[in-house]
Amino acid sequence: MTTIIDGNAVASEIRDDLEGAIETLADHGVTPGLATVLVGDDPASQTYVNMKQRDCEEVGINGIHVDIAGDASPEELYDTIEDLNADSDVHGYLVQDPVPEQIDYREVLRRIDPHKDVDGFHPENVGRLVAGNAQFKPCTPHGIQKLFAAYDIETEGADVTIVGRSDIVGKPMANLLMQKSADGNATVTVCHSRTEDLAAKTRGADIVIAACGVTELIDGSMISEGATVIDVGISRVEDDSEKGYELVGDVEFESAKAKAAAITPVPGGVGPMTRAMLLYNTVKAASEYED
Ligand code: GUN
Repeated sequence: MTTIIDGNAVASEIRDDLEGAIETLADHGVTPGLATVLVGDDPASQTYVNMKQRDCEEVGINGIHVDIAGDASPEELYDTIEDLNADSDVHGYLVQDPVPEQIDYREVLRRIDPHKDVDGFHPENVGRLVAGNAQFKPCTPHGIQKLFAAYDIETEGADVTIVGRSDIVGKPMANLLMQKSADGNATVTVCHSRTEDLAAKTRGADIVIAACGVTELIDGSMISEGATVIDVGISRVEDDSEKGYELVGDVEFESAKAKAAAITPVPGGVGPMTRAMLLYNTVKAASEYED
């Protein structure tokens, strides 16, 4: 029997623990504050920031949202960043990516106070993560580590193949898993669009992490018997259903499930964990909370 990894259940446990920590902070007169900044009106980004705000409300974090016009100058955004850096009610914040083309996202990240960088994308935080001394672990890789812990999936000595080399998932995931730590100690292979014979790399893995944004790229023939499969992808594929679309990952679920010992579904796998870890980082920023 293949274990279907229940991200909603694990995220719910993490959120329960956070609610306890938030109550303790309230006893000390502190309410964690998370600000989201959206530049422009990209519908997918709007959905994401709305979800982040709703999550805050549900656990007792003070959610603050700042909308900036899509044709705003970089300086306008930098002024907002300065205000958020100075605002003691805001313990953490993020500028939703992508930003319009007149804005350089790297420059945006450099201006965020690293102590409020709950995405973990500021160069100082990237450096700290690579050095094995992370202040804020990026939410998706951190959430995946929490899934491994919840399901007793050993990374020590495991061969892990990560498909995708993004700054948000692939690179930090590789760094965390190769670290000398109880939730690391893996042997990591990072694959990408120029990798030759991807199937050989995934077949050789005890754990496959698909994070390339290519719908159903990884199928059962590319998975070895008994492997763990983590699907980070989530794309809308139009269909004839009432909603008009289906959410599909980077893994062909049914064929991969037939081979895997454990697999994350889409939706309900990695997604809720990413959202929970943003709340976790916010509480950490407000309190130095760590479990
Ligand atoms: N766009 C897609 N994912 C993310 C994320 O995790 N953080 C930010 N800031 N933007 C994103």
